Amino acid sequence: MMIRTIPLDEVAQHNKQDDLWIIIHGKVYDLTKFLPEHPGGQNIILKYAGKDGTRAFEPMHPIAIIDRFLSPDVCLGQAAVNPASEETVAELETEEEKRVRLAREGMPKLEEMYNSFDFESVARSVLKADAYYYFSSGASDEISMRENHNAYHRIWLRPRVMVNVAEIATMTTMLGSKVSMPLYISATAMNKMAHPEAEKVLTRAAGKCGIIQMIPTLACYSLDDLVEARVHSDQPQWFQLYVDTDRKVTQRIVQQAEAKGVKGLFITVDLAGIGRREKYLRQKYKQENFENTQSSDDHKSKSSGSTTSAPVNKRRGTLVDPSLNWSDIAWFKSITKMPIILKGIQRYEDAVLAYKYGCAGVVLSNHGGRQLDFSPSPIEILPEVIDALKCEGCDPRKDFEVYVDGGIRRGSDIFKALALGAKGCGIGRPSLYAMACYGDEGVKRLLEIYQNELEICMRLMGAPTIADIKPEMVDIRNLKNHFVSSPTDYLAQQTYEKLQPTRAADGSNSSGGYQLSKL
Ligand code: FNR
Repeated sequence: MMIRTIPLDEVAQHNKQDDLWIIIHGKVYDLTKFLPEHPGGQNIILKYAGKDGTRAFEPMHPIAIIDRFLSPDVCLGQAAVNPASEETVAELETEEEKRVRLAREGMPKLEEMYNSFDFESVARSVLKADAYYYFSSGASDEISMRENHNAYHRIWLRPRVMVNVAEIATMTTMLGSKVSMPLYISATAMNKMAHPEAEKVLTRAAGKCGIIQMIPTLACYSLDDLVEARVHSDQPQWFQLYVDTDRKVTQRIVQQAEAKGVKGLFITVDLAGIGRREKYLRQKYKQENFENTQSSDDHKSKSSGSTTSAPVNKRRGTLVDPSLNWSDIAWFKSITKMPIILKGIQRYEDAVLAYKYGCAGVVLSNHGGRQLDFSPSPIEILPEVIDALKCEGCDPRKDFEVYVDGGIRRGSDIFKALALGAKGCGIGRPSLYAMACYGDEGVKRLLEIYQNELEICMRLMGAPTIADIKPEMVDIRNLKNHFVSSPTDYLAQQTYEKLQPTRAADGSNSSGGYQLSKL
């Protein structure tokens, strides 16, 4: 069939709600009928009616999403666009894009990144505001989000000395796969807001560093692409599942993952509705004068009545099933042989139920503090989860694996979680920030930093191998006390030179303040 080339002035005439054409990646689409169905709301499409919307489309959607969800006749032909010259691009640059470009030009060198916070600090200045707010938001007052990391501060270490620590080995196994350290990259949606190659960057970095990546249901790339992107053919991968109300869809996704050799099925159970991420909502509202809707993580859930700017899913309201319950586990076990792990367990009773229902493990997680504010930090409930499992006759290091995610920012956080019985830890935001700033090399450096920090911690703790990390190495007497006062040492405090995050050349990160005006 001949593909029609459509002049730009013709496209420009179709710029109304009831007659709406838009250019995406050089093709002209008639989105008039699709407009009311767009999960991200109508405003963003209307903004680009009759124009090229690629720049707005690109970071939010998987590449093949139009072909996958819209009928072929919405594509009217090829836009008669000449490749834009450098000058044209500069002319078209918005204020926001200019800010990002300048921030990127002034970025510190990768070698100047010393810890996971450094990446966050740089990401804050080099990401577009909507991306930064999307990634960094937590639910409501963000108390749980901050508590996730702060709770680690209430655990102190009890180092052993006079132990031969000449050799340190961080290798372990997770769900039977050998890994270089007990850390994995957790599932996060909309990775294209961080980097054009999105999850592929994480696949490659995980492979090079010998750790596992959990592929999200809402990945920007297909499962095939992400399996293809592996560094070596036996690189283990896990899959995170949002359970669709249409169980046939769920079954297809699960069986596809199994056929591709995925080593573990992580069913997200903490998203029966969507937490209010106000920082992101406010930003979205400002940006698009958003209708009275709630945009969120990932998608739209019928039960919560909220909308999202997430990847387009034409079957609206079906992506997450709020009726998911314990009786569904038997069905999952009937459709797959992959180990089933529940992601988002927030109390010990549910961890015990997961064990009794035949799951292979749990992830103690509150979705990075993005769902229910005042849900406990995963590390706080870890000791009681392990105790309760043992009471059921379960050996949490053998029969059933317990993972934690949320607020893991230091190698010592991993050490503390392992000492309390976790098999491994997951990270979400740190890998997004590292990828946003420095792509593949950034994520690799981030993982090396975690590994180095863990090694130093193990050496100084007198624990040369993972098996040597024991509960008696941590003091958790204050873990449950959310307010622990300690006397202020004014003399030391006033002479102390404050550590500062690495700053971009424009000084945007100086003095630690979180400056809305700069974003
Ligand atoms: C998430 N998380 C998440 N979890 C999930 O099961 N499916 C998903 O699609 C997403 N999407 C998502 C997006 C973003 C931007 C964030 C920050 C998080 C939760 C994620 O897997 C993990 O539980 C937390 O991110 C861990 O907390 P930290 O490391 O971000 O503090």
